[in-house]
Amino acid sequence: MKLIAISGSLRKGSLNTALLQAAIQELPEGVSVSLESFADIPVYNEDIDGEDKPDAVVRLKEAVASADGLLIATPEYNYALPGGLKNALDWLSRPAFKSVLAHKPAAIMSASKGPTGGARAQGQLKLVLAAVLAEAYPAPEFIVPQAQQVFTEDGVLTDDNVKTRLHRFVNEYIAWVEARFK
Ligand code: FNR
Repeated sequence: MKLIAISGSLRKGSLNTALLQAAIQELPEGVSVSLESFADIPVYNEDIDGEDKPDAVVRLKEAVASADGLLIATPEYNYALPGGLKNALDWLSRPAFKSVLAHKPAAIMSASKGPTGGARAQGQLKLVLAAVLAEAYPAPEFIVPQAQQVFTEDGVLTDDNVKTRLHRFVNEYIAWVEARFK
């Protein structure tokens, strides 16, 4: 099985990228993951979403098309999902209902420095995924509140409790993908 992982944060010391890396460590054998970025994707403009799309868009679309599923870890910005992630999803979402995201199983996580762990951003992300007919893994939200307390400065997850929850979450997601989509 092949997954792609997308962090909603481009920040070098991102807690969400660290969460993705920690999740990748917990995946069962036989699952490969490539970490993709939306850093080079321009702001969505339908005028340039024709035959000749920006290279970064083409690359991300191809990566999603060839993947069996998505892992997304996102921060919450001002109670919402970050603009960069939404923008990338908008690019990926065309043609409507027949895009590379349609029927793609997606596991969502969020890490935040605040006490709500990015739960509000997850609610919005699920709405966007529903709009593009992607399949959000219907588990309770995987959130990491006060994430700066469970990762080291170098992004290493040190909290055994979070590690155990993460292990269960990603392995149950893989079992769900295998049962429903393979
Ligand atoms: C935040 N942060 C934040 N946290 C939260 O729980 N709810 C929120 O609404 C916001 N809003 C917000 C807006 C903006 C513009 C920034 C930069 C930050 C704090 C956020 O949780 C924290 O910065 C995380 O560390 C961001 O994720 P990464 O970059 O570490 O992955």
